[in-house]
Amino acid sequence: MTGTPAQRPTAADLARRYGTPLYVYDLDRVVAARRDLRAALPESFTLYYSFKANPHPELARALREIPDGPCRAEVCSEGELDSALTAGFPAAEILYGGPGKTDGEITHAVAAGVRTFSVESLGDLRRVGAVAREHGVTADCLLRVNDTSSAGATSLRMTGAPSQFGIDRETLAEQAAELSAVPGTRLVGLHFFPLSNARDEDGLIREFRQSIATAAALHTELGLPLRVLDLGGGFAAPYAVPGERPVYGRLRAALEDALDTHLPRWRTGEIHLACESGRYLVGDCGELVVGVTNVKESRGRTFAVADGGVNTLGGMAGLGRLLPLAVRLDEEPGRATRTATLVGPLCTPGDILGRDVELPDPAPGDLVTVPNVGAYGATASLLLFLSRPAPVEAVVRGAETVSVTRLVAQRTPVGPGN
Ligand SMILES: Cc1ncc(COP(=O)(O)O)c(C=O)c1O
Repeated sequence: MTGTPAQRPTAADLARRYGTPLYVYDLDRVVAARRDLRAALPESFTLYYSFKANPHPELARALREIPDGPCRAEVCSEGELDSALTAGFPAAEILYGGPGKTDGEITHAVAAGVRTFSVESLGDLRRVGAVAREHGVTADCLLRVNDTSSAGATSLRMTGAPSQFGIDRETLAEQAAELSAVPGTRLVGLHFFPLSNARDEDGLIREFRQSIATAAALHTELGLPLRVLDLGGGFAAPYAVPGERPVYGRLRAALEDALDTHLPRWRTGEIHLACESGRYLVGDCGELVVGVTNVKESRGRTFAVADGGVNTLGGMAGLGRLLPLAVRLDEEPGRATRTATLVGPLCTPGDILGRDVELPDPAPGDLVTVPNVGAYGATASLLLFLSRPAPVEAVVRGAETVSVTRLVAQRTPVGPGN
């Protein structure tokens, strides 16, 4: 006799059990997102998981343990590197990037076995080379290129303007010789990351086309190596509002066509092609549940005060923007709605999760759920402000609760002898 299959615990069940604020991450969704993104890319592409979206080792492990083409890790700090190593990513396959690498963190990375770096300037390359030499190794380096502008439509552009990211394309001709001769390093290819969160597939395709054409031109005209071409990403996901990840149904053919046009030898496997993604892979796996602690009226407005605010979901706070936020009240779905401002517990008027949110007549004890916050959630927040505890993070796979943890910051002595 077979019993009824066990149900995935709801976010509300878990919140009642472990308290709020609480993130719930569903590993089945992570696996589905990876499958969909792989299907949107040519088969030979390597897919890197960008830890900045969410460094939780269980999510990363779910992306690594997939047998048919596991993701590799793309990291930008000691902490992200440690998460990647904890999740079992081999150090030799990790890509280490970021515009502000310090000698200390490069040393940490090289000592851990990292050998591939994306570099953002000549100074960055020299710093990586100096550390590599100290360790008696050679670092494989990708030059991140700040290309001239293109047409992709998105909220977050990272190329085509003066920037801390990448080397300006128009300066590469005069820098090429110097870049190619930095002791301790070997240039292996180019890295592009022109934009983030591109819902519009045509815009994304135009961006990739431009990067491929630029890479081919830099290779032919300046002799820059192209054993590796990391085209970055820009794959979108809904953030703090309901919705689905976009389906990029034409991307694969368009990439193949652009590569056939500009770099036909990609078909021989001589060029190792890669893309990167954070939000597409983990954005829709996560929900945040906060509990309403108080409801008050002030001069004609209703404030619902929750036990988590921008200290638990502060992704946009740094940009001075409010989240688009749409929430769900988990109890009694039929209840009449009321427009309220959903605020957190911090002592700042900036602690607003959503202004004029439709809340079903909020009351203390209610649970409010924010969907699609698996990326740029907890660790993109003002976690330490007001010294409140970090949110609980529960990871589920089907009916199984894989782990329930909380990040803890602790003050430790720093200095000689420690
Ligand atoms: C170099 C690089 N790689 C990857 C990412 C991840 O972006 P996303 O989460 O939008 O995929 C970013 C985001 O800023 C980035 O700058």
